[in-house]
Amino acid sequence: MAGYTDAWLSYKMKALTNPVLWSRVTVVTAAGDKEQLPQTVVTATAELVRAGKELFGTELQTYYEAAALLPAEAEAGVDALKRLTGQAEGTVLLFLPELAKGYSEGYRIVSDDTVMYIIAGTGRGILYGAFDVIRMEITEGSAAGKEKKVLPDNPLRMMNHWDNMDGSIERGYSGRSFFFVDNEVVVNERTRAYARLCASVGINAAVINNVNVKNAATELITPRYEKELRRMSEVFAEYGVTLYLSLNFAAPMELAGLSCSDPLNEEVRAWWKETMRYIFTAVPNLGGFLVKADSEGRPGPHTYGRTQAEGANMLAEAAAPYGGTIIWRCFVYNCTQDWRDKKTDRARAGYDHFKPLDGQFADNVVLQIKNGPMDFQIREPVSPLLGGLEHTNQILEVQAAQEYTGQQRHFCYLVPMWKEVLDFKTYCAPENDTVADIVSGRTYAQHTCGMAAVTNTGDDENWTGHDFAGLNWYGFGRLAFQTSLTAKEIAEEWIRMTVTKEPAAVKALTDMALCSREVYEKYTSPLGIGWMVNPGHHYGPNVDGYEYDRWGTYHRADCHGLGVDRTSKGTGYTMQYREENYKRYEDAAECPEELLLFFHYVRYDAVLKSGKTLIQHIYDTHFEGAAQAEQFLGTFAGLKDYIPEEIYQRSAERFKMQAEHAKEWRDIVNSYFYRKSGIPDAHGREIY
Ligand code: GCU
Repeated sequence: MAGYTDAWLSYKMKALTNPVLWSRVTVVTAAGDKEQLPQTVVTATAELVRAGKELFGTELQTYYEAAALLPAEAEAGVDALKRLTGQAEGTVLLFLPELAKGYSEGYRIVSDDTVMYIIAGTGRGILYGAFDVIRMEITEGSAAGKEKKVLPDNPLRMMNHWDNMDGSIERGYSGRSFFFVDNEVVVNERTRAYARLCASVGINAAVINNVNVKNAATELITPRYEKELRRMSEVFAEYGVTLYLSLNFAAPMELAGLSCSDPLNEEVRAWWKETMRYIFTAVPNLGGFLVKADSEGRPGPHTYGRTQAEGANMLAEAAAPYGGTIIWRCFVYNCTQDWRDKKTDRARAGYDHFKPLDGQFADNVVLQIKNGPMDFQIREPVSPLLGGLEHTNQILEVQAAQEYTGQQRHFCYLVPMWKEVLDFKTYCAPENDTVADIVSGRTYAQHTCGMAAVTNTGDDENWTGHDFAGLNWYGFGRLAFQTSLTAKEIAEEWIRMTVTKEPAAVKALTDMALCSREVYEKYTSPLGIGWMVNPGHHYGPNVDGYEYDRWGTYHRADCHGLGVDRTSKGTGYTMQYREENYKRYEDAAECPEELLLFFHYVRYDAVLKSGKTLIQHIYDTHFEGAAQAEQFLGTFAGLKDYIPEEIYQRSAERFKMQAEHAKEWRDIVNSYFYRKSGIPDAHGREIY
């Protein structure tokens, strides 16, 4: 296994502007007792000490003091806090468990030039506050003179790894797994470095194994892996990251030889109860399980004529005594479709399966819903389940792994896309009706909810293959914690922490990041239609790659036009949305143009809002997108002097690859549609 960097936590020495602030760390609690502290508070002190050393070359001592404060006093200003705590110098971690209810995993920071208070009701809150202070030092120049209170928007902020036990990673673009090697669970310093990076951006949970649970992974809930999993959960816990596992619904058959895994079968139920008792006892920090059932060949309750709710609730009942959560994925659809069949629509499947079950899931079940109804394409509408379900806990699933968005060879900053999803107005309630409201729990007063990202990490030295893909990991955590942060703020932070602080370079890289998603979209599949990739590995252009296949992902291009009619006259998918959105999508004239082909079949000669025909739009965007990818390369090369040598070398190679592949996309897509339509480019550019 290769070495690894500290990514955005690779501190570089800087001038110490407020020496008193960084002179000592004092933990203040009612008892003043180190022994009683949560592990995460101890970690926070160690992180501040480390930052003091690596940023300023100072040696901070840590002290433990007692002071009793009332919850209301935690809201006081610096001077009052000095009086109340008796602490007037250095960094003071004020840990007040009484605040836990109001602050959840959040924190308050108040500082002047000599003292900085980080106040929280949980250990995680203290740890996140400490990382915020360090971040402010690096990105804003100093943590002095601040006052802010940051409460996390989402209770669950999860990583979903698709790591297999043999060490491969499904849709992994940055090396092999650092959790599993040759069917063994690996716990080492990299495990800690990973948890640390997660904690530094507020991620509080991680599912370590692939949702497609096969072979040895099924055995993760048996004594075979108990010791290592316990150890891993302990390392994670130091950083406030809760360990979750993906589960095989057929485990009773595969592990115990039962004749079925019917969720209503008494023997099966008893087996799960005993298994849950065992695993939660053996791995006390375990949070619960993620389940992909009845999806893409994975087993599930449908085999036995049972509903998704019956399947999930059986596991939930068995896990409930241990506070376990069952995260049940909604990615259920027919993957053996006939391409000739124009009525069956994969986009409809999630809603058709789960909406009728709304209200039937146990309290400790949470449904995990992919952002779009299809599968992480560069542009999709928001899944109608988000805003459809009213009585069910929900987690939004996004994909940081760039399966369909350039596989971490192309730069594609995904936070702008995720923000679009979070800001989407579903009209499910008179107020608080955006996706951000729903998954945070605000809309329906839920607590078991939040956001999950299919991760983009592996054992590559820089964790993410493309250094700039690290921005998606960082960005996911920051956004899940605080959904009001802008994509620009997040990008600037990460660039300053990881790449450069030179203002002109920060601006150039931020500008690149912010347009990178549109650039990728321009040279790949147009106006929300998706796919057009090589089957299997999903990289590179192949317009008909999935057109005559079983996966339900068609563009329906012919000699007159392309697109899928998903209106009430077509597949009826638009009718899954609430009235306002239904109307918008139903009418081609109202439909947001970037989604036009997702919802409508459109003729090549139809005139779009821009005044261009559809075919001309396709040609133009492909030429533009490829030209912009070429510009990325040039801009990046111009910033060489401001970028650490290794990051520069690794990334320049990727930008070069992107520019070349973008041309390939441009020419294949343009030629395909020229040949189908027979309509030449209005500007006479080269199309083959
Ligand atoms: C996509 C991906 C699969 C993955 C699946 C899922 O289809 O290509 O590799 O297993 O999503 O989300 O379960």
